[in-house]
Amino acid sequence: MTSEASRILVWDGAIRLVHWLMVVLVPLLWWSAEEGHMDWHKSFGVTMFGLVLFRMIWGLIGTWTARFAPMVRRIGSLKTYIGDLRRREHGATFGHSPLAALSVFALLHALATQVTTGLFSVDVDGLESGPLAVLVSFEAGRQFADIHELNFNFLALLIGLHITAIAFYHFVLKEKLVGPMITGRRARAAFSDSPLPENRARPLAMLAAAVLSFACVMAVLNFG
Ligand code: HEM
Ligand code: HEM
Repeated sequence: MTSEASRILVWDGAIRLVHWLMVVLVPLLWWSAEEGHMDWHKSFGVTMFGLVLFRMIWGLIGTWTARFAPMVRRIGSLKTYIGDLRRREHGATFGHSPLAALSVFALLHALATQVTTGLFSVDVDGLESGPLAVLVSFEAGRQFADIHELNFNFLALLIGLHITAIAFYHFVLKEKLVGPMITGRRARAAFSDSPLPENRARPLAMLAAAVLSFACVMAVLNFG
């Protein structure tokens, strides 16, 4: 059995909390829009806006595994990684693998598009609208709503691919990725890289990211 000391932090608490809240919110957002519970939809949507914003800021000032810059560098070795994957010679990656880094950018991009267009959307009879729709004309609000609807299909496709990839790693490659996304930790021995990058969270940076995203949510709500 692996002792607690030999298990190291891969995903900090903020990454995990944001991730699992997103997993809960996406189905709720879909359900509330389908059922016409638009007050719920907008509350869930603005919460999602805060989470996406927090994750973007955390990508700049967060732990090493949260930051975007190392992920961009990882994507540079995508071809080699896929070659290794096909020969089953890939090792466990500390943080996002090149493939996972790509999917993070795609998912966050689609989520950001979804929340932004939602904030400016107006429904067909002008009765329901996002809090920032007052800033644009009715026609522009309708166009935002069209993109909002279209992008949801793209987001759903990406989420489907994301879950399929996690299942593929689990069942075919026998690499269990879900456990670390829950506990945050993984056995040190799983990684061949030595030394591993410093991955400690700075509490002040976390507080700054939380306060900034909360302030943006409040500012947006004050428009509505
Ligand atoms: C609404 C559905 C989902 C969304 C929007 C979503 C989004 C994301 C995002 C943005 C990341 C990157 C994490 C970060 O760096 O912040 C991620 C990673 C991850 N997600 Fe999800 N996810 C969803 C559903 C799921 C589900 C259902 C599972 C498990 C069955 C899952 C398992 C994971 C795992 C294991 C990782 C880490 C991948 C790695 O090792 O690099 N996700 N997800
Ligand atoms: C990830 C976040 C979000 C998801 C997954 C999502 C999903 C959806 C879906 C599936 C629809 C129905 C589209 C259709 O078939 O017409 C919808 C409509 C709508 N959403 Fe969102 N939404 C999100 C965020 C937001 C936000 C942040 C707001 C504003 C606060 C918002 C406001 C609206 C409005 C006003 C409509 C009605 C548009 C119309 O009737 O044409 N949404 N959303």
